Amino acid sequence: MTDTAAPAAASRIVVLTGAGISAESGIPTFRDAGGLWEGHSVEDVATPQGFERDPVTVQRFYDARRRAAASVAPNAAHHALARLERSLGDRLLVVTQNVDDLHERAASHRVVHMHGRLDRALCRACGARSEWHDDLEDRPSCPVCGERMLRPDVVWFGEMPYELDRIENAVVACDIFVSIGTSGAVYPAAGYVALAAAFGARTVELNLEPSDAVVPFDESLVGRATDVVPAWVDGILARS
Ligand code: APR
Repeated sequence: MTDTAAPAAASRIVVLTGAGISAESGIPTFRDAGGLWEGHSVEDVATPQGFERDPVTVQRFYDARRRAAASVAPNAAHHALARLERSLGDRLLVVTQNVDDLHERAASHRVVHMHGRLDRALCRACGARSEWHDDLEDRPSCPVCGERMLRPDVVWFGEMPYELDRIENAVVACDIFVSIGTSGAVYPAAGYVALAAAFGARTVELNLEPSDAVVPFDESLVGRATDVVPAWVDGILARS
């Protein structure tokens, strides 16, 4: 008997992750508190206009998030995806909307940060993107050009996410598309399930609750990421 839902050993898998995968590590998700991020509106702290209006508040907000991210650890869901990569190699790509580095700290290597990273600074003078672990509030100098115009290297609303060509090429070529811990509220990430389905991929959602996806997933596993992700990875590896 053949289980048509079972992935073949040679399956290519794209995993899209969102804030829900890091929630149990202690990083709050975005949309749980009525559209406010730790007391700030999205417009104030996640748009270029908000930064122009009040750069100190925005730098403080991301300085606090950078420190918070550094103080927590990857959880069982991040570790499970790293385990999957060790088995699948370059047949797995993790596309994350998260700006924390918990996938990398769990030893995943094939990770695309489409919304940037807290541990990098972007120089508004020369465009250099430098590894950065300290606060930016006091306007430190760019290590490349010396100007004091660094901002967090995170993608704000109205800006272009990173590596879209690489992501889309992987999505259209994958056999299984898996969405983990994302509300499906923000594009272009929210559109990848439809793109994957249009190109014949099986689509799977692992989330605390069914998301707002416009196109329904083939399979939806509801639960906490630390429970459902390791179980799903075990299932894939058992079939490989
Ligand atoms: N396990 C699994 N899923 C969870 C858990 C958990 N422990 N906790 C929360 N979730 C789910 C929520 O049910 C929700 O569907 O994770 C999702 C988090 O959604 P959002 O807070 O909207 O985060 P995300 O989808 O990553 O946001 C996308 O929007 O604000 C911008 O740039 C920001 O990258 C972010 C993007």
